Amino acid sequence: MMNRLVIRRPDDWHVHLRDGAMLEAVAPWTARQFARAIVMPNLVPPVISVAAAEAYRTRILAALPLSDFTPLMTCYLVDRAEPAELVRGFEGNVWAAAKLYPAHATTNSAHGVTDMRTLWPALAAMERIGMPLLVHGEVTDPDVDIFDREAVFIDRVLAGVVRDFPALKVVFEHITTAEAVAFVEAAGPNVAATVTPHHLIINRNALFASGLRPHFYCLPVAKRERHRLAVRKAATSGSLKFFLGTDSAPHTVAAKESSCGCAGIFNAPYAMEAYAAVFEEEGALDRLEGFASEHGPRFYGLPLNEGHVTLERAKNEVPASLAAAGTSVVPFQAGETLRWRFAGPA
Ligand code: NCD
Ligand code: ZN
Repeated sequence: MMNRLVIRRPDDWHVHLRDGAMLEAVAPWTARQFARAIVMPNLVPPVISVAAAEAYRTRILAALPLSDFTPLMTCYLVDRAEPAELVRGFEGNVWAAAKLYPAHATTNSAHGVTDMRTLWPALAAMERIGMPLLVHGEVTDPDVDIFDREAVFIDRVLAGVVRDFPALKVVFEHITTAEAVAFVEAAGPNVAATVTPHHLIINRNALFASGLRPHFYCLPVAKRERHRLAVRKAATSGSLKFFLGTDSAPHTVAAKESSCGCAGIFNAPYAMEAYAAVFEEEGALDRLEGFASEHGPRFYGLPLNEGHVTLERAKNEVPASLAAAGTSVVPFQAGETLRWRFAGPA
């Protein structure tokens, strides 16, 4: 049995670092495990302009004075997004990618896209310059069952984008279904997906285990077991198309434990431990490094990280909550004892 695992320093290709006091509380957790992260732009107000992204990047770096962490910024796409602003930000090394939130699909997406057709000029420009499109892949049609919204999004939206922009780099974010796995596998090498720890570990039963469990609620919502198994198989397969993106999305305990609780799971503090457990269970520990540290940079056309980190086999208790922003946040797997511990630089 392997008791120590040394891998190239990993990156997180999808994280919510928030702003203000919450940013200061959560950014160190991400910077502790990951060298770089693709930072989501769904602040209030969202990060739409190059100037707003530069200012946000400065605030992130200020929250991490002792770290060499690199935040990779994303543009929040709105109806009629301006191609020239996307090109300027990407070529000026501010934007790493642009994020599509269908309007009202998830937390802080009220300014998201209502009419996909208005994005066609922006998508054409992104295809031309090699700027990745990151997709929150759920339809918002209230007539579509919430557990079907990802699969329906493929048919109604994503298939058309990939057909009309065959060379566009697309990341189908936080995939949760067998349909998403099949779509990504069948598409060209320019279409990839991120996978969260929680969608590898829980199915939808976790939301209702002897009561309503708000800390397991996120979007896209966890699906049936057969979907979890399909996502696990893809993530641990060694395919270059699947890579690590935690979708760590902290909300205060009061915002989660409410009559209308926020969507989002805060998994940054024990992310690598959670992924390691999954890869071990699938007999694929030798593939963790590809998923966590190689496939993402390859897709984005960025260099691999230089250093290495160690994971040790050790009992690792996840606290019931962590202090943040004058209150607390509940981490994923709170109260559980994990088998792995992230031990820092190798
Ligand atoms: C995210 C958040 O809270 O910002 N929530 C979530 O459930 N994942 C938004 C998102 O990525 O959908
Ligand atoms: Zn997210």
